[in-house]
Amino acid sequence: MADKKAQLIIEGAAPVELPVLTGTVGPDVIDVRSLTSTGHFTFDPGFMSTASCESKITYIDGDKGILLHRGYPIEQLAEKSDYLETCYLLLNGELPTAEQKAQFVSTVKNHTMVHEQLKSFLNGFRRDAHPMAIMCGVVGALSAFYHDSLDINDPHHREISAVRLVAKMPTIAAMVYKYSIGQPLMYPRNDLSYSENFLHMMFNTPCEIKPISPVLAKAMDRIFILHADHEQNASTSTVRLAGSTGANPFACIAAGIAALWGPAHGGANEAVLTMLDEIGDVSNVEKFLAKAKDKNDPFKLMGFGHRVYKNFDPRAKVMKQSADEVLDLLGVENNPTLQVAKELEKAALADPYFAEKKLFPNVDFYSGIILEAMGFPTSMFTPIFALSRTVGWISQWKEMIGDPQLKIGRPRQLYNGETLRDYVDIENR
Ligand code: SDX
Repeated sequence: MADKKAQLIIEGAAPVELPVLTGTVGPDVIDVRSLTSTGHFTFDPGFMSTASCESKITYIDGDKGILLHRGYPIEQLAEKSDYLETCYLLLNGELPTAEQKAQFVSTVKNHTMVHEQLKSFLNGFRRDAHPMAIMCGVVGALSAFYHDSLDINDPHHREISAVRLVAKMPTIAAMVYKYSIGQPLMYPRNDLSYSENFLHMMFNTPCEIKPISPVLAKAMDRIFILHADHEQNASTSTVRLAGSTGANPFACIAAGIAALWGPAHGGANEAVLTMLDEIGDVSNVEKFLAKAKDKNDPFKLMGFGHRVYKNFDPRAKVMKQSADEVLDLLGVENNPTLQVAKELEKAALADPYFAEKKLFPNVDFYSGIILEAMGFPTSMFTPIFALSRTVGWISQWKEMIGDPQLKIGRPRQLYNGETLRDYVDIENR
């Protein structure tokens, strides 16, 4: 909706009038699509001030530390909903009725198995390959198995691809883990909930099927909810850009997994544990805070800071509360890693450097502590993030592909390389 105008005065040129668009909440945007007619581009590396699309899925207010999924606060979803209900909400825009929820859960359960031949893809990887490397490859390979649902212009194909991805990611993540430790792959079970099933496939073996702790399953489900979607972050923007070319949804999600892997993004949860282990003891916290503040030291406090949140990441608050609950349940009180994390958070929040730069704990700061206490190796932390975020990626992909104004994403540049010059034969160089 454009009811305001912005005026751009470019020296030596006539003023340019640009529409200002207003959403339902959040900052207005200046529509610069007509700017090319002036012979100018906008310049915004890292997209710090750029809205790449319109969306109805997730809203973040970074200054107030607010995160809404289809209008519902993340705190309420984490407390009252469950992951598959949140998936339904993200995919369809509304919370399901009891009947809709039962139908959705049943549909997902009936798509949790992967094609038996997909398992042979694992054998191409070394056992010690990073799980994210395998996950990228295997998820991309899914497009080789679903020729019946790759017409992205068919809403039913988009729907079934979304369900298949949500349903199969836990199976694939568990397969990748079992392969890395040389244990037999576990089949999914339809008598278990989504989170129980994942813990079953991860930690049970054909020799012994232990019951899944309902408290750990609830903690797992909450971790899935907290990572489900997050507006136009780097990996979601990657999925949208790949999708804008018409690439199939499995290839787009594989691209999102690749982008998430970076330590500045989803790889941070693994990097937090590595950092906490390196700090080792609360007595070393001040030394590492000094390193994080030292411009000449590349060390950063992993799990701290955020492009959008300049206040507490609301997910971090829920995650911290969950960490206390899970560690108490597991009888892991006085967990040294948790003690270091709490001391590090307390010292950083009291430090002017972090206060001035508005650096607060983000979603990755506490998640790894819970996952480690639950028995996951650090190499599985980002695959679990990818598993959880798949519903966000595919919801954003569906929204984009369903937009009649869809255009291929193709940014321009500020060129400051060589201008036109003639080729020089080698003997004259
Ligand atoms: C996720 O976008 C999303 O929504 C992502 C995510 C999602 O759900 O999809 O929320 C998930 O990726 C969370 C972020 C996980 N990454 C980390 O925890 C890695 C550590 N954090 C930093 O790398 C950093 O804070 C970023 C990448 C998260 C944000 O970087 P920005 O917005 O580009 O900010 P910046 O790097 O320009 O930092 C601003 C200033 C700089 O100092 P100056 O140059 O201004 O003097 O703050 C400093 C930085 O040096 N700074 C830090 C710091 N983060 C930023 N200093 C020490 N420790 C840190 N963690």
